[in-house]
Amino acid sequence: MERKTVFSGLQPTGNVHVGNYLGALRNWVKLQDDYDCIYCIVDLHAITTEYDIAHFANDRRGAAKVLMACGVDPERSLFYYQSQVPQHTELAWILGTITGTGQLSRMTQFKDKADKAGSNLGLFAYPVLMAADILLYRADAVPVGEDQKQHLELTRDLAERFNSRFGDEFPVPDPIIPEHGARVMSLQDPTAKMSKSDPDEGSRILVLDDPDTIRAKLKRAVTDSGSEVRLDWETKPGVSNLIEMMSLFTGTAIADIEAEYGSGGYGRFKEAVAEAVIAGLAPIRSAYRNLDDAEVERLMQRGALDARTKAEGFQQKVRKRVGLAG
Ligand code: AMP
Ligand code: TRP
Repeated sequence: MERKTVFSGLQPTGNVHVGNYLGALRNWVKLQDDYDCIYCIVDLHAITTEYDIAHFANDRRGAAKVLMACGVDPERSLFYYQSQVPQHTELAWILGTITGTGQLSRMTQFKDKADKAGSNLGLFAYPVLMAADILLYRADAVPVGEDQKQHLELTRDLAERFNSRFGDEFPVPDPIIPEHGARVMSLQDPTAKMSKSDPDEGSRILVLDDPDTIRAKLKRAVTDSGSEVRLDWETKPGVSNLIEMMSLFTGTAIADIEAEYGSGGYGRFKEAVAEAVIAGLAPIRSAYRNLDDAEVERLMQRGALDARTKAEGFQQKVRKRVGLAG
């Protein structure tokens, strides 16, 4: 049987955090066993908000290295920088012609970002480029965290709209969102998601943070009133976030964590969470140290070359469908 295709992307600005890891990257890595996987550092998405121009190329390579250290394997998956495959933007333009501006203006991520930093056409069209990323390769499934659900809905709408207007071309892709870890919360405000753009470094744990930094961030993590270690997202969002994190890093059931730490107080529990996170991230940190920059860049260039060939084959069909081929 033909293998199904998986596509996903990650923005290179800011460092990769445990929310990215637990919400998306762990699935990226696992899916490589059973699917044809295509993974992309989405640099064109990242330039829709403020970014550090001088360090961008370096940050981009840093993100590629972290992903490889997590287990994204360029020998098994197609892995490259989005801007090096121009078919993404070509398809985005075409999909833009069937996208309602009303629907785009209702995207919550657009509204959030536009409120904070002001709007621009790239930010407005961001979800259309994401749909193009996915549909370009006829992906069947897309591993993401919960915050990308609305963008996936738009992608599904666009696939259906394109198919009914121009003929059946795109499968309608399904999101793959983990049952736990799909929305890891900020350590400083457990009602907001952990995010790369939060100015407070203490709000997130980076995949490459050293053990002392992780201990310090968890020590400072906001907990709730009371002292009982129990999962209850309504009244104990801070503690619940830490319980979930510990469960995912150790593979221990939530009930067992509650039984062991329930009445021992927050201090002891936070120390145990720190040790669990440190142990879980240790293999990634050491894999990262063994990666060579020049070799990573060579692999990314090779990935882009392969991706361009594949993408061009698919785009020829799209051009024909919409009447752009002779
Ligand atoms: P980004 O850093 O925005 O490019 O996100 C890369 C992937 O990580 C996407 O699939 C997001 O849905 C996921 N992600 C980002 N933040 C979180 C979070 N706090 N919890 C779970 N998943 C997340
Ligand atoms: N918008 C996604 C995010 O911020 C990144 C992304 C871009 C993506 N293109 C994609 C994710 C295609 C999945 C599939 O996290």
